Amino acid sequence: MEQEIKKLQEQLKKQEKLASLGLLSAGIAHEIQNPLNFVINFSKMSDKLLKDLTEIIEDNEDKIPEEDREDLEDIVSDLKDNLGKIVEHGERAISIIRGILLVSRGKENEFVPTDVCHLVKEYIWLSYHAMRANYKNFNIAIHEQYEEGIPMMMVIPQDLSRAVLNVMNNASYAVWHKSQTASEDYHPEISVSVSTDDGNVIITIGDNGEGMNEETKQRLFENFFTTKPVGHGTGLGMTITRDIIENKHGGKLTFDSKEGEGTTFTFTIPIKK
Ligand SMILES: Nc1ncnc2c1ncn2[C@@H]1O[C@H](COP(=O)(O)OP(=O)(O)OP(=O)(O)O)[C@@H](O)[C@H]1O
Ligand SMILES: [Mg+2]
Repeated sequence: MEQEIKKLQEQLKKQEKLASLGLLSAGIAHEIQNPLNFVINFSKMSDKLLKDLTEIIEDNEDKIPEEDREDLEDIVSDLKDNLGKIVEHGERAISIIRGILLVSRGKENEFVPTDVCHLVKEYIWLSYHAMRANYKNFNIAIHEQYEEGIPMMMVIPQDLSRAVLNVMNNASYAVWHKSQTASEDYHPEISVSVSTDDGNVIITIGDNGEGMNEETKQRLFENFFTTKPVGHGTGLGMTITRDIIENKHGGKLTFDSKEGEGTTFTFTIPIKK
């Protein structure tokens, strides 16, 4: 009893932190958009200037010594590549920020037309980067497969992203934990897919981590059931996830797991346009 109360208190603290973190990250995301747009726009402008410069060089080719000409061409081409990279990564950052804003803007329990592939992708990588920041030697391969042309569908983005995050965090932990004791030829892998079938969207997240034993499979959805050390799990992730998929979205949450080999979770959600 005492232990349960302690866990509950810890969970409450965590939720308070998460709530303020949500507000904070929405604020930060919003603020970062502006400077990031400057970075992208100035890079694009510089790219245009570089083109002008190239033209001037070409017009004056005969005035530049041969060896200098080659150096100039190399430098211009490197600059062009660098600017391209700045724009590419800047745009990636902008798209992550848009994802965060979209999710934190939606009201609680509000169904919003959503690009599910985009949502899944953003939260898979958000979880990945959070794990990398928190766990030493966290090195995994992520395989992604997104069906093209899935229509925008009505979901509660705040909740669906939470569900993806919960399952991805568990998968990441399972491969990380296994890698701590596995032999060197173990390659931690997580496979993610989003597809449609028969009016449903199907999201799968599979790992080749430590898998679950019989007891864990039985008790997976019990409140506060966890096999993780204190501070690494409260045992509520899967309860919350099942509530989100089954009660809030009218879908089905299933899993398949083999001890020592890995686990796959599947969300099957009816498409509401
Ligand atoms: N992909 C997985 N591979 C192996 N075991 C898993 C996996 N997902 C869940 N589990 C097992 O199920 C237990 C319960 O998972 P759940 O997400 O509900 O709680 P948790 O991860 O322990 O804590 P948290 O509330 O922080 O998510 C985990 O402690 C773990 O033993
Ligand atoms: Mg969990």
